[in-house]
Amino acid sequence: MPLLKVTIDNIEVEVEAGTTIMNAARKIGGSVVPPAMCYYSKLEGSGGKCRTCLVKVAQGSAKDPRPMPKLVASCRTLVQDGMVVQNITSPEAMESRQAITEFLLLNHPLDCPVCDQAGECHLQDLSYVHGLQETRTVEERRTFKPIDIGDKIKLNMNRCILCYRCVMVGDQITEKRVHGVLGRGDHAEISTHIQRAVDNDFSGNMIDVCPVGALTDNTFRFKSRVWFTKPFDAHRECKKCSGKVVLWMKGEELLRVTGRKDKYGELEEFICNDCRFDHKETGDWVIEGPRTIERHSVISQNHYLTNPGDAVRIVK
Ligand code: SF4
Ligand code: FES
Repeated sequence: MPLLKVTIDNIEVEVEAGTTIMNAARKIGGSVVPPAMCYYSKLEGSGGKCRTCLVKVAQGSAKDPRPMPKLVASCRTLVQDGMVVQNITSPEAMESRQAITEFLLLNHPLDCPVCDQAGECHLQDLSYVHGLQETRTVEERRTFKPIDIGDKIKLNMNRCILCYRCVMVGDQITEKRVHGVLGRGDHAEISTHIQRAVDNDFSGNMIDVCPVGALTDNTFRFKSRVWFTKPFDAHRECKKCSGKVVLWMKGEELLRVTGRKDKYGELEEFICNDCRFDHKETGDWVIEGPRTIERHSVISQNHYLTNPGDAVRIVK
């Protein structure tokens, strides 16, 4: 089948029919890739919820060069031959990203200093680049008490952005989904109805897919800031999953086990709960060597930008 030509931020790329703008941009890589808070390439049907990935389609296709009338979700829109897309070159898309970031933060607490996700949080990164300096709202934020869902996972609903990724993990990776989004609108919340009910073999992957600190690892909570730990690739023989993980060490101590993530913060493979929670001795693992984490969080030690405005420039 002939490849389709698409231009994103003045860079041309050829992709197969059926490719989304997001994945065409990922093929180019670098700053043209829109941020994704809900799309997750390994979860079928993900995307289309958060709107952080909106881009401008300046030319629909070679056959019909009219621009699309509204910004479109790049994770859900398929490319056409001759399509011209603007992401960081579109002031309109940048303005909308700022508005979406403000919206996602409407109810989100500013508790990064006590949140285990700090340093790995996509919302933290997004706010750093697109967030406003001051809040414009005076309304009270909705608040929930943190609860245990299963003995290993802590849900802090205050931080949830309702991206549905964890629900899709429940649907697609575990044997039986026992949680979901209850209520609608301002009352929507992730819940199990019966607390402590999430105990599937693969439920721990919800922690890894959660883009914020709403689902955290009870066995790691408050043990260390993530940037004080050192990641190592390791594996073990496992009957349930590939056994390929990242060990997060502090000195000799193994503090946390996670799946291996790619540069977009997505898991390369889902791992089972045995590997994640029940093998916390280094002797349980064959250590392959240090892992380079490609995706630098804004809070990684010594990785602050001197001028946050440099992170995104409108390229004309
Ligand atoms: S708990 Fe996390 S993964 Fe689940 S919907 Fe909320 S933000 Fe998304
Ligand atoms: S990543 Fe596209 S709408 Fe959320």
